[in-house]
Amino acid sequence: MCGIVGYTGPKNSVQPILEGLSRLEYRGYDSAGICLKLNGKLDIVKKEGKLENLRSLLAQSNPSSNVGIGHTRWATHGAVNNDNAHPHGNEDFAVVHNGIIENAPILKKGLLAEGWNFKSQTDSEVFLVLLTKFAKEDGDILKAISRAFQTIQGNSAFVIMEKATDRLFCVKRSAPLVCGLNPNTNEAFVSSDPFALIGYAPEIYFPQDGVIGCASIMNGIAKMAFYELDLSPSSRYLAQKNAMSLDATSKGQYEHFMLKEIHEQPGLIEKLAAFAIKGEGKKDFEQLRGKNPDFFHITACGTAWHAGLVIKNFFEKFNNIRCSVEIASEFRYRSPILKKGEVGLFISQSGETADTLACQELCKSHGLPTYSIVNTRGSTLYRDCDLNFLIHAGQEIGVASTKAFTQQVLTGYLMAMGYAGKLDQTEVYQEIKTLSDRVATICQESSKIKEIALKLYQKKGFIFTGRGVYFPIALEGALKLKEIAYVHAEGYAAGELKHGPIALIDDNMVNIALLGPELFEKALSNVEEVKARRGLIFAIGPKGHSELHQVSDMCYELDFSGLPTLAPVMVNVVLQLLSYHIAKLKGTDIDKPRNLAKSVTVE
Ligand code: AGP
Repeated sequence: MCGIVGYTGPKNSVQPILEGLSRLEYRGYDSAGICLKLNGKLDIVKKEGKLENLRSLLAQSNPSSNVGIGHTRWATHGAVNNDNAHPHGNEDFAVVHNGIIENAPILKKGLLAEGWNFKSQTDSEVFLVLLTKFAKEDGDILKAISRAFQTIQGNSAFVIMEKATDRLFCVKRSAPLVCGLNPNTNEAFVSSDPFALIGYAPEIYFPQDGVIGCASIMNGIAKMAFYELDLSPSSRYLAQKNAMSLDATSKGQYEHFMLKEIHEQPGLIEKLAAFAIKGEGKKDFEQLRGKNPDFFHITACGTAWHAGLVIKNFFEKFNNIRCSVEIASEFRYRSPILKKGEVGLFISQSGETADTLACQELCKSHGLPTYSIVNTRGSTLYRDCDLNFLIHAGQEIGVASTKAFTQQVLTGYLMAMGYAGKLDQTEVYQEIKTLSDRVATICQESSKIKEIALKLYQKKGFIFTGRGVYFPIALEGALKLKEIAYVHAEGYAAGELKHGPIALIDDNMVNIALLGPELFEKALSNVEEVKARRGLIFAIGPKGHSELHQVSDMCYELDFSGLPTLAPVMVNVVLQLLSYHIAKLKGTDIDKPRNLAKSVTVE
């Protein structure tokens, strides 16, 4: 979604704003803009496309202003063009927005009827016009912000800059927002992600919904103040040190963040095992022992949902816990039966995905304990859940999630071992160690997978198939290929193919067939069905099965020994690299694929 950065302080705001936006660009890269105060006036510069377009525009004039707000956009309302880029401003105010104003069309109609003008087709500009109108009526910016915010509906975060002073204001409802202070340099910041403030603001503040934040410099001292919507002082904010680190922001020797993050997995797998089985994390998993819930309502989106489907297998197999795995955007608007003794489990890399957060609120409002499997410490999901299981994947920059999936599945496995009281069993640690070694081997053999990609990258359609726990892996493999290579790919339960999708099979359709040791014969016969219709088959399965070579056009053999439970994670790494190489051969933007964003903070 959109990235926001604001600065007020003694220095030129351009550098910290552009640096912050470059760190948030993975959230949305349709356009970028900045508002500065030059010669006492609000000056907006904005440009369609990636941040570098804005950077080169600013380089022509090298402006300097000690206060400013910046924005990178993921378009929701209004085409991708300069007019719809943020900030939106007029003579008195400038606004940047992340979220959706659901009642914007009605409000805009009323404001147009009152004679107000609009320069864009965005919903966001409605907030600017409301603010301007109320400020004229009340002559008090705080009151005007409060009224404008209470007039709009929808999950949104706003940062406001005014001509009259160098203060910055912010307010949000179910959207990420963080304020920052640097008491040493007397600088104040506002952003949509603490990641943008690393190295700038050691102190960060998370205001709650409906709390107006005001960042100001008073007599050279940087201050943060918070107000309720009735303008009384507010204490509804969380203050903490900014513990995040920047080491994830370099690609190292890799050409793409996605490739770097795939290669980080062997080390991360081992680190998580050491943390959870031998380290300070053990207590988090051990506390689950014998506390099996009656039912797990697992909800998530995208790749995290696929991880949930795999984890369900673990809770059923090792803990006899009944589970449902729900797509969050559907679950939140159904009337799910939520009973005492049941638990809501939310899986999210970012911890900011709007639909997943809404499901957490829903379960909480029905009195269910809420647990998270999350990557981002300090995210909204992490702050709102009763119990959090951090996946220790480090910052994931590539929009296509890779290492987070592996760590999410592993964390689910460790929870199942915790419930079963099996954490100390050597075979548990040994299996994870074996997984790390096998994934390392696959990464070292990446060129083998590139060979396969060379034969497949011009193909137009892909059907990924798997049985049992390999069905979610088929879904995940298809998603990765769609996300970064822009080809039509579907994941199916292999047994489901003959109930319809097999009609798609011809010599132009590629079947990526996943065959684990369990149900091998069943899966093989499904591949035979595809072969009978001349589909092109790339099979991934266990070593030592000649029939696999006979039935497939291309085959990637894996050693499944010592991996009775976690082999699906190993198979998925092959698919991660396959998608990467196909996308590379197709020349797409692998780290910032079109139309996507890393964390989806709108519904
Ligand atoms: C995965 O590659 C995608 N980026 C997307 O499907 C993602 O998994 C989904 O948006 C959920 O994000 P979350 O894990 O941050 O909640």
